[in-house]
Amino acid sequence: MLKSINCGELRPEHAGQQVRLAGWVHRRRDHGGLIFFDLRDRSGLVQVVFNADISQPAHSAAGEVRSEYVVQVEGVVGLRPSGLINPHLPTGQIEVAAASLRVLNPALTTPFPINEEAEIGDAIRLKYRYLDLRRQRMQKNLLLRHRIITFIRNYLDQQDFIDIETPILLKSTPEGARDFIVPSRVQPGKFFALPQSPQQMKQLLMVAGFERYFQIARCFRDEDLRADRQLEFTQLDLEMSFVDSTDVTALIEGMVLGLFQTVSSKQVQARPFPVLTYAEAMARFGSDKPDLRYGLELVDLTDLLGQSGFSVFANAAAAGGQIKALTAPGCGGYSRKQIDDLVEEARHKGAGGLAWIKVEAGELRSPIAKFLSQTELAGIRERCQAGDGDLILIAAAPPAVAAESLGHLRVLLAGRLGLADPNVLACAWVIDFPLLEWNEEESRWQAKHHPFTSALDAHWPLLESDPAAVLAKAYDLVCNGMEIGGGSIRIHDQTQQSRMFAALGISPEQAQAQFGHLLEAFQYGAPPHGGIALGLDRVVAILADEDSIREVIAFPKTASATDLMLNSPSPVSAQQLRELHICLTD
Ligand code: AMO
Repeated sequence: MLKSINCGELRPEHAGQQVRLAGWVHRRRDHGGLIFFDLRDRSGLVQVVFNADISQPAHSAAGEVRSEYVVQVEGVVGLRPSGLINPHLPTGQIEVAAASLRVLNPALTTPFPINEEAEIGDAIRLKYRYLDLRRQRMQKNLLLRHRIITFIRNYLDQQDFIDIETPILLKSTPEGARDFIVPSRVQPGKFFALPQSPQQMKQLLMVAGFERYFQIARCFRDEDLRADRQLEFTQLDLEMSFVDSTDVTALIEGMVLGLFQTVSSKQVQARPFPVLTYAEAMARFGSDKPDLRYGLELVDLTDLLGQSGFSVFANAAAAGGQIKALTAPGCGGYSRKQIDDLVEEARHKGAGGLAWIKVEAGELRSPIAKFLSQTELAGIRERCQAGDGDLILIAAAPPAVAAESLGHLRVLLAGRLGLADPNVLACAWVIDFPLLEWNEEESRWQAKHHPFTSALDAHWPLLESDPAAVLAKAYDLVCNGMEIGGGSIRIHDQTQQSRMFAALGISPEQAQAQFGHLLEAFQYGAPPHGGIALGLDRVVAILADEDSIREVIAFPKTASATDLMLNSPSPVSAQQLRELHICLTD
């Protein structure tokens, strides 16, 4: 090796030893006769001192060296004089007196400093991602990611799971997000699709008798990017045979708790993880991925205000809507502009508007107060448990809109009020999702999870007569307001699967063309099975205290779906297109 020990491993017990180090020049200070380097490798930093009196050639070579040069240093470890100890550095009690310096490779001045945690524009970071990744924050994040994946692999191995790879060149299917498709050269006009997840393959592995499968699987979805979404992302994907929902959730809960304990110092808020039904989560928090680190629960006022003299409330209730409230503690002093901004936020989520009430000196003050009776005002105050200085926000809208708009304000206000403790991990299971949801644009039912999810046993008879009422054997794992995983018990019966496709408006011919392999496989002794996939990038981001999963992926795409370093996507040659039988139109 070009080095005998790592920089960050040196300690007082190495004093007197001759060492050979190799790494990057992190920082350099020239004091004339003495030149100091902080030398950096993956393990950390160590101070190297070049003393002209000890080695003139090494000292003059050090004078030529700049930040980020790759160098090799030989020297002797010594204790620092007591006044010069750096308590903030693990190697802060020692330094290396250099006898020789060899430049292994010089470096241009980097486009941004590697040695400071300054804010740097995303575009430049992603263009020079290999330099960005040199920075301590990113080194730490990727090391954490490695630890998490290693823990998961070991845990699942011990639980008798086997890791099986599934194809990246798969088949396009009509459900789910938009596919990335790959043209076939040898079969003109035909295409593979990249997997949105290994869903069908893992179910076929259950038919194949593996019983316990997992994979750290790369998934591809052509959807709009957000802080928690990338075009390609990584799942911990797993599937089990002969299980019901609680077998899967118990296994994952054990794994996740073990993981948190091993890689994080954050406190788990509650164990076992609370279980909420979808209906309860929507009613209390306006979200199917509620952040449970704080209260701020929504309150239903429909029965209280449904007959109100305020026509907005009465009309909403008459149309089957709900009147729901959220109390923002201590926000009673909000200015008109601040309240208008909240109303605008609610409008973005579909609400027609937002009523508001301030509690001041025991009185409810609001532009709508004059339309409400004393009983109604007293009822609002009591139900919302609002006190002086609080602000009550009320949405009257169709249930989903009332939930979503107030759910959004709940998260926004909690952020402003600093209610979400970053050192707490609040996980919960959300269960009993609707099996189907109505797609307004396409005027048809679509699967809320995916078309392979089973209905609750008692709900199968309702599939054709009352599809909206059918609940699924599906479960999501949420943590700190993020959906970190989702799964279900699957349909393993060909007749039920055909009924599900029919409910989704997929004709028997389409079902045969798209999913024939699965329907056929189910006729050869398919075991009951179920599974889950965790969004690994999201898990790492939460544990790394990062807001965006981009910060825990080595080479992510930008929000506009490009790789700024590779400059991709990029055009291909006419020859390549010809071979693929592709003709570009404008
Ligand atoms: P689902 O689509 O819910 O389920 O995905 C599982 C988990 O993957 C994460 N995730 C994402 N992470 C980053 N970027 C994305 N674009 C993205 N999309 C999803 C989320 C989510 O909870 N096959 C099923 C799982 C199963 O039923 O077993 C599936 O893929 O954390």
